[in-house]
Amino acid sequence: MTQDELKALVAQAAADYVKQEVPQGAVLGVGTGSTANLFIDAIAAFKERFSGAVSSSEASTRRLQQHGIQVLDLNEVDEIPVYVDGADEIDASGAMIKGGGGALTREKIVAAVAGRFVCIADGSKLVDTLGAFPLPVEVIPMARAAVARKLAALGGQPRLRMTKEGGIYKTDNGNVILDVSALRISQPKDIEQQINQIPGVVTVGLFALRGADVLLLGTEQGVQRTDY
Ligand code: 5RP
Repeated sequence: MTQDELKALVAQAAADYVKQEVPQGAVLGVGTGSTANLFIDAIAAFKERFSGAVSSSEASTRRLQQHGIQVLDLNEVDEIPVYVDGADEIDASGAMIKGGGGALTREKIVAAVAGRFVCIADGSKLVDTLGAFPLPVEVIPMARAAVARKLAALGGQPRLRMTKEGGIYKTDNGNVILDVSALRISQPKDIEQQINQIPGVVTVGLFALRGADVLLLGTEQGVQRTDY
């Protein structure tokens, strides 16, 4: 199976999970990225069963609305039983690197509110140690150079994310992203806390303090479910 087929498989498995395990009328938390897009397409088939979605990005908001799914402001929502999102890497403890799509801050906010985080990923995302994928860090623009120096002092190699057109990439929140390579993240909770402390950092794309509760992993043998 191709990576796209594996993504479609787990997106459908997550839609089935929502149908079976989320109470009717609940609000869903919806992530960002190509796997999350397939999940949005899959839940459109039973959109009358939930009352709306809290979205983690402008891109997901557009896709949800194209399907006629109501997008709710998080400030108006008390409870999100389940948040479904992809990951760039996930380890055996459910800790993840996220933010390849640039939506890490809103993803972390919605994940923090949600009762359960269901991670959907193709098999290539499961790793022994996080860090081969460059760690995204969202930064206030004026702090870019200062934060980059701190990240380099931690042993990382930060690189300012650019657009395909060669401009500086800006998040939905108007900030910049440093993608940090050369970090071998064996203690993800410690590194998450350390990077969170750097003045100017908005969000680090390590989701270890609040990791996944359920992983739906797409493999050649089918969808493998892990409950953490
Ligand atoms: C976006 C993310 C995505 O979940 C992550 O990049 C995985 O994306 P994809 O499903 O396209 O592989 O964190 O900010």
